[in-house]
Amino acid sequence: MEVSAIKAKEAFRDYKNGDEAILAVVKDNYYKMRTRQTVEYGQRMRKEYLKFNRPMNVWDAMMELQAFVDLSDPDITLPNVVHLIQSAEAMREQGRPDWMQLTGLIHDLGKVMFLWGKDEDGTSLKEQWGLVGDIFILGCKLPETCIYPEFNAENPDMADPRYNTELGMYEAGCGLDNCLTAWGHDEYLYQVLKNHPENKLPEAAMVMIRYHSFYPWHTGNSYEALLGPKDAQYKEWIKDFNQYDLYTKCTKTFDMEEIKAYYIPLIEKYLGKGPVYF
Ligand SMILES: [Fe+2]
Ligand SMILES: [Fe+2]
Repeated sequence: MEVSAIKAKEAFRDYKNGDEAILAVVKDNYYKMRTRQTVEYGQRMRKEYLKFNRPMNVWDAMMELQAFVDLSDPDITLPNVVHLIQSAEAMREQGRPDWMQLTGLIHDLGKVMFLWGKDEDGTSLKEQWGLVGDIFILGCKLPETCIYPEFNAENPDMADPRYNTELGMYEAGCGLDNCLTAWGHDEYLYQVLKNHPENKLPEAAMVMIRYHSFYPWHTGNSYEALLGPKDAQYKEWIKDFNQYDLYTKCTKTFDMEEIKAYYIPLIEKYLGKGPVYF
């Protein structure tokens, strides 16, 4: 697959030029996400969704994403499972490690939350503001590097003195792992896999899964005051991963039987043969 030849790099994540109907949906999703994701919401969603009582086969979970189109993504209107396969296949083509190929294949699997999600939580097919989109940290000042920074002031926490300063509810240098991120598919899948006894994915894979949507940090370079000793390494891993997450989006089709035959053994190697509990 000639991934780089499909679209110029500058043409991705363009929130100003493009199909107006798509851009309006993207913007609406970001408006709701920015103005409704508060500390209280983030804590409540973790209690509500991290119950790990839904066994699902990894391949079956992927296939469920045939019914899911990410409303926050201006670059893709295809079912999400296609994006997962494209990311993984680009890594495979370039000879990247097998665990990384698998990470590409599953990194957005947390979006299966939509199967039992709710409109009022922003976790459904129709309302995706608690499911997709660039994440940020809850409980401290929203940075200008967020997409549509003009929405920041409307987040209720930004009127709360506990949360509206650079450090907010955190200690300087506490590290990203000790911060409460906006709720979405990244944190969800990270927690699901962390809870999975047979998970043998390396730390780099878990970091790629957890922080791949954290653009204000990994691309915007915000949150300096909160970063801890591990976060420079985290950023290197994310940058490496991100090129496959972003620039492989195209309309190429695949031989699904071949894909399945190649990736099922990888799933079994790193996640076991049984179900994962979502
Ligand atoms: Fe994602
Ligand atoms: Fe992705």
